[in-house]
Amino acid sequence: MCGIIGYLGRKRAKEILLEGLRRLEYRGYDSAGVGTVEGDGSLAVVRCVGPLDALVEKLSGWNLAGTVGIGHTRWATHGAVTEENAHPQLSADGSILLVHNGVVENFASIAIFLAERGYRSRSETDSEVLANLIAYHCAKEPPQQGRFLDGVRRALLHVRGTYGIAVLGKDFPGEMVGARSSSPLVLGVGDREFFLASDVAGFGSRARDAVFLNDGELVHIRENNFSICTLGRELVEAALEAVEWQEALVEKNGYPHFMLKEIFEQPQALENAMRGRFSADGSSAHFGGLRMSPRELRQVDRIVFCACGSARYACLAAEYAIERFARIPVEVEYASEFRYRNAPMDRNTLVIAVSQSGETIDTLSALREAKRKGYRVLAVTNGVGSSIAREADGGIYQHAGPEIGVAGTKSFTTQLCILTMLALYLGRLRDLSFEEGAEIVQALKDLPRLAEETLRLDEAIRALAVHYASCQSMLFLGRQSLFPIALEGALKLKEVSYVHAEGYAAAEMKHGPIALISKDCPAFFLACDGPMLGKIQANVQEVRARGADTVAIACAGTCEGEPFANRVLTIPRSHPAIQPILATIPLQLFAYHMGVFRDCNVDRPRNLAKSVTVE
Ligand code: F6R
Repeated sequence: MCGIIGYLGRKRAKEILLEGLRRLEYRGYDSAGVGTVEGDGSLAVVRCVGPLDALVEKLSGWNLAGTVGIGHTRWATHGAVTEENAHPQLSADGSILLVHNGVVENFASIAIFLAERGYRSRSETDSEVLANLIAYHCAKEPPQQGRFLDGVRRALLHVRGTYGIAVLGKDFPGEMVGARSSSPLVLGVGDREFFLASDVAGFGSRARDAVFLNDGELVHIRENNFSICTLGRELVEAALEAVEWQEALVEKNGYPHFMLKEIFEQPQALENAMRGRFSADGSSAHFGGLRMSPRELRQVDRIVFCACGSARYACLAAEYAIERFARIPVEVEYASEFRYRNAPMDRNTLVIAVSQSGETIDTLSALREAKRKGYRVLAVTNGVGSSIAREADGGIYQHAGPEIGVAGTKSFTTQLCILTMLALYLGRLRDLSFEEGAEIVQALKDLPRLAEETLRLDEAIRALAVHYASCQSMLFLGRQSLFPIALEGALKLKEVSYVHAEGYAAAEMKHGPIALISKDCPAFFLACDGPMLGKIQANVQEVRARGADTVAIACAGTCEGEPFANRVLTIPRSHPAIQPILATIPLQLFAYHMGVFRDCNVDRPRNLAKSVTVE
């Protein structure tokens, strides 16, 4: 959601800003713009609606030579998708240029205050109000060093809401100010050049070090240095972290789309997620960053997961594994609901926030709410240095590598993998036997190889997608730990092919959704090996009897002879602990090919954002 990039250095800002915006495209946007401080001190702004190519085209008519600038990809919240509402936003007096990610909740009352003082908004955005508020406060500051920073700081003291901002001032040509409150902002430090971005991808290997700003902090960048302070004017020592960025990971490397590349990266991503995390005796897992002793973990008598979207489905699958291996009761909450629900919880409840980006505002807010009430919160995230990673009491990184496709693929399967390992670890601290633990460890070790084998279904699934490309609606059905995978299969299809899909617990189908069954509504069944196989095969027959096409994902060796569904996709036979991970892969491939055949932008589906930083 909204991407911010800022540059202050010796090179022409325009190209660096455009490159940064390209790298941030994956976050999702509907309009874009850049603004620079030009040699004569003027502020130049170029914005337009639509893809970045349109901005590049428009910019070709502009001779921007400034070496200080800011850029933005906007995902509309306040105000329609128009050029006027795109960023950067220029203050009414032309003195301040701002890009903003987040929502100013009290913008209406600030706008009235400012209008009475001559600062009238032209756009419908809360961000223009913020630009005006900063202009108003900068104008009030006495002419002294630090006036720009103080003006921004004073303005922010009046803001209620969330923001990551980068600000330029007409009267402060060699300066840039950034600030954050619940919307990510990271400073990149290069060789006598600085960057500001919503995430490291914005500058990648152009910067040597990164400083992740904390909430309530401002960064003041000048030509040769920078400083960080709080809204209360206290200086903060910058925690520099080396930028480890491999450009190859954010390129398509011969694949037509990032989504397909990331689906095929899963064997490696799973390997990376597990590396160094098995116990020496081969029966358990261990994690370096939990910051909880085995004794403390044994005292946990309830786990509450908070997450959104696919991450929440990974938690639903983990619920089965944790309850089975560790016998700890688990609840899975929509992070957005948990935050306001005020659910009563016991002292020994452990809260786990799961988020690939580590920046989803609902999950971050749920984490904060749980911490405020005194619960210990762990995080599972792919976002190294993300807000959720930094604010949790401890956690586990997914190590899936950057995911550019908006629809989560390798981020989801690595979450499943990490949570299965966590279930194993908790189980081995309690009642799970050595033998059972060792079996699960072996299954996990086999996982990358079996994922590789499963990917060989690609051609068959492509053919299946040709067959179903014109479908309007589909059902995805599974039982037990495969039920959340059915939910994920339906979500993936909706996201990338815009085909309506529903995921259901297979037996629950009879309590309503069966009314949808017809020859125009095919059903996917997750019919892997295990005690539920007979039951789910019976569910397949119920659907076939009503004339619908059925596709089953089944384990090798379990469906010889007459196929029990119209079409069967065979995945390798495996331990039940890893079946949810393997069964996900064909569903991802199916959604991908459906999206491609239906001419959808599978990497950046309409209206979606990779990192949802507004409530
Ligand atoms: C689905 C998808 C979303 C995310 C959700 C949470 O493909 O990507 O449903 O899972 O927005 O995002 P994170 O995991 O970043 O908190």
